[in-house]
Amino acid sequence: MNKQVEKIQISGIRRFAEKVKKVEGAISLTIGQPDFPVPKHISEAMINAINTNKTVYTSNAGVDELREEICRYLKNFDIDYDKDEICITVGGSEGLYSVLFAIMNQGDKILLPGPAYPAYENISIMIKGDIITYPLKDDFSLDIDAIRNKLETENIKVLMLSFPSNPTGAILSKEERDSLIELIKEKDIIVVTDEMYSAIIFDEYYSVAQDKEIKDKVIYVSGFSKIFSMTGLRIGYVACPEKYMKEIMKVHQYGVSCAPSIAQYGVLEGLQKSLDDVEEMRKTFERRKDYCMSRLKALNLEVAEPKGAFYIFPSIKKFNMSSEEFCEKLLNEGKLACVPGTAFGELGEGYMRISYCYSDEILKEAFDRLENFLKTKFKCC
Ligand SMILES: Cc1ncc(COP(=O)(O)O)c(C=O)c1O
Repeated sequence: MNKQVEKIQISGIRRFAEKVKKVEGAISLTIGQPDFPVPKHISEAMINAINTNKTVYTSNAGVDELREEICRYLKNFDIDYDKDEICITVGGSEGLYSVLFAIMNQGDKILLPGPAYPAYENISIMIKGDIITYPLKDDFSLDIDAIRNKLETENIKVLMLSFPSNPTGAILSKEERDSLIELIKEKDIIVVTDEMYSAIIFDEYYSVAQDKEIKDKVIYVSGFSKIFSMTGLRIGYVACPEKYMKEIMKVHQYGVSCAPSIAQYGVLEGLQKSLDDVEEMRKTFERRKDYCMSRLKALNLEVAEPKGAFYIFPSIKKFNMSSEEFCEKLLNEGKLACVPGTAFGELGEGYMRISYCYSDEILKEAFDRLENFLKTKFKCC
């Protein structure tokens, strides 16, 4: 077996989701899969793509019209790329994998946020990168000094950014973005910014990808799994200058050839006609976020208010057990599944991730169960 692959494990999010199936009557707030159907224009475009035999390989980089449409879409966020700087990938996952595989050599240092989406760490291990983690502030906002310190004391090649964040829901403020841009200008690094949830945001959007001066240092990864509620259809994309793209394309080509043709045509139509549906979903997530906040606060749990995505990451430190143990007990005794914070790295210890892409009824029942569990087990709240 490959020694590097042996070192990693299947994602803790998935492992916990599997455990739920074995606990009768349990409900799950574990998965990051929006509970909406895929927008109508997208499903119709996919049916049409099948009926018109658009079922063959597309070019490796993806359907031209879709790459052009993505450039137009990104301009709404003040992000500027040309069609040739876009590669359509098999979800954001393949985008991340192809990017990191293409730019890193064995022993290259990558600076990752902690806690963070587990793929960054695990892909880095598979490709023998050397992982350094930067801590976040207590409210999970960016600690620029901590990043500066790591960049100045370690020989970092790649800085990973992830906003809105899975698992914390944190986003980048204007001040943080501007300080980051200054830092990136000073340092000889490549920045990979994973913006899978960029359309699900409850405040102003800011990204380092908006700055033209540092464009040659930035690789932007995003996708449509979350914003179009189409996680199973597997369309993501990478946007970056040609010097990176020509290497990323080789990994992408030999790994997957191209993203699924039918789903590419669906996304094309979605970008042209379904952005209103995205706005409706965003509003629903914001309302649910407010509900989760009010229930968690009523339980006296410490929690930073998310500003994007559809996750909330309350502290469970006061219960004096590991997050894995707490979530196991909550599942077995409280019949509610949430993901232990350590599924997002060591710095996730003391937290649990709640996904609120579930219906109002399920959320209400889930928080009632959490309340009952805390009252019976810890006589608190
Ligand atoms: C931050 C982040 N990046 C990337 C991905 C991967 O997305 P996809 O399902 O499109 O592969 C996810 C999925 O949960 C995510 O949360």
